Parts: sequence; C-alpha cells; structure tokens
Amino acid sequence: AADISGDLSRILVTEEEITAKLDEIAAQVAADYEGKDLLLVGVLKGAVMVMADFARALPVLAPMDWMAVSSYGAGTRSSGVVQIRKDLDTDLHDKHVLIVEDIIDSGLTLSWLLENFASRGAASVEVFALLRKPEAAKVHVDCRYVGFDIPTEFVVGYGLDYAEQYRNLRDVAILAPHVYS
Ligand code: PRP
Ligand code: MN
Ligand code: MG
Repeated sequence: AADISGDLSRILVTEEEITAKLDEIAAQVAADYEGKDLLLVGVLKGAVMVMADFARALPVLAPMDWMAVSSYGAGTRSSGVVQIRKDLDTDLHDKHVLIVEDIIDSGLTLSWLLENFASRGAASVEVFALLRKPEAAKVHVDCRYVGFDIPTEFVVGYGLDYAEQYRNLRDVAILAPHVYS
C-alpha cells in the first residue's frame, strides 16, 4: 500500500474513540426514539463509515436510506451550492428521520438538507454529526447529537475525503497543508 504517513499532520480522533462515542450516542438515540418509527438517512459519500458503524451500534432495528449531495467537489472549501446526486427512495411522511453526517463544517450542506426535508411531511427531523467545527460555522445547524467538536483544520479519514482520497483511513486525521496548497 502507498505510504501516506507524510500526508497527515496528526491523528485527531482514533478508531477506538469513535467506537466508544458511537456506542454512547446509539444508546441515547435508542432511548430517545423508543416506540417511534425511526429512519436513518445517511449523506453520501462522507457518512458511509459512520452510518455503517452507528447503525450496528444501535440496539434496535432501523431502516437506512441515502441521499447523495455534494458541495465541495475537488476543493477544500464548500462551494455553497449543494447538488442532489441521488435522492431518497423513502417517503418521509410520518417518519422520525435522523440524518447521519460525518461532519458539520460551514453548516451549508445540512442547513440546505434540513430545508429540503421540511416539506416532505416527516414527523420529526434531527441530526447526528460525528464531527463539528464550531468555529467554521457560516450558518447555524440545529444538531441534536454531536460526536466531537474539532478545530478548524482540514480533516480526512473515516469517510472524509480530500479529492475522493483518504476516505478509507480508520482514524480521523489532519491533512498536512502541503498536500492541498
Ligand atoms: C462534506 C462532508 C459534509 C459536508 C460538510 O461533503 O461530508 O457532507 O461536506 O461541509 P459543510 O458543513 O461546509 O457543508 P462533500 O460535499 O465533500 O461530499 P462527500 O460527502 O461526498 O465527500
Ligand atoms: Mn458529505
Ligand atoms: Mg467531500
């Protein structure tokens, strides 16, 4: 395999820390949604890893659907223009939707998604984001479940990419600036 150790400045969140946090949030979600018709909606592609692990950490059954949107393209900054590449297969009517995201950076993707979901008749729509950059927020996103608040650095791994690369790293790491500057 390619040696990518020089591409990373440092590991920010380890696989073990992620696993422990997912167990904690899964227990909380199971309690909060007891008796409710819960639907997990993952935001492709970044949320693939967190959805796979979070869904299996849940002690209850929950169907999954996926929406593919993209605002970053090949760059390191959000374009602010969100494009739907794949819509949901599920009718949200009367569903309790939990959107599963890898990260809230500027907040533009999720605020756009929440607005998009508002007219679809869901009983409720909440957000679980594994990572959040509080100091990078351009718009406020009401996020019920947050894994880790992190500094404003460009991070990759555990689903997060730079130009589609690094998604399959097990930890979340800061990308060395020389890679993208
Ligand atoms: C990334 C990330 C979030 C979003 C967060 O997705 O996975 O979905 O950006 O950034 P924001 O809060 O500034 O909107 P991206 O658009 O890179 O697509 P991807 O998930 O396919 O990598
Ligand atoms: Mn994404
Ligand atoms: Mg991306």
